[in-house]
Amino acid sequence: MPRHPASVVAIYPGSFDPITNGHLDLIQRGSRLFDRLIVSVLRNETKSPLFSVEERKEMLLEVVKDYPNVEVDSFNGLLVDYAAGRSASVVLRGIRAISDYEYELQTALMNRRLKPDLETVFLLANEAHSFISSRLVKEVFGLGGIISGLVPPSVEARLQRRMSKTKPKGV
Ligand code: PNS
Repeated sequence: MPRHPASVVAIYPGSFDPITNGHLDLIQRGSRLFDRLIVSVLRNETKSPLFSVEERKEMLLEVVKDYPNVEVDSFNGLLVDYAAGRSASVVLRGIRAISDYEYELQTALMNRRLKPDLETVFLLANEAHSFISSRLVKEVFGLGGIISGLVPPSVEARLQRRMSKTKPKGV
């Protein structure tokens, strides 16, 4: 029977473009469950994100500074290889609705096939956050809707700065 590791390191991977209050809730709860939680941004060249990986890491660092066992990082390549390199035994993911489940199930089973001793732990999103996604936050904000309460205030301020830069003058 494999022994329980002396300290459990979990990776919370994602795009975080940008971090929402749903992500933050998962980070807070994950930080209580694991000895160390590494929130890691995927460096994905194929997506065209609103924020660069460095900006996303900065936003994450701003909101996790009060959690001493939470670290912010980025990765590329296979998640299972990254997890092994960071001595992590758990991948943390959130599930908001049944629509998330299919993708998460496929991904978790593929990761298990690639690395059987890496466990994926799912936390159900808090019902207050179950409709929030980075994609919808960007869409609503871009169309002038109010996003207070959906993202941390520091992220809202950054979105405002980013949108005012990209908006043509006089519009
Ligand atoms: O926030 P997202 O975009 O839902 O996060 C998806 C993420 C980063 C967890 C997933 O795309 C991932 O783990 N990518 C790393 C590449 C990899 O390992 N792919 C095989 C997974 S089956």
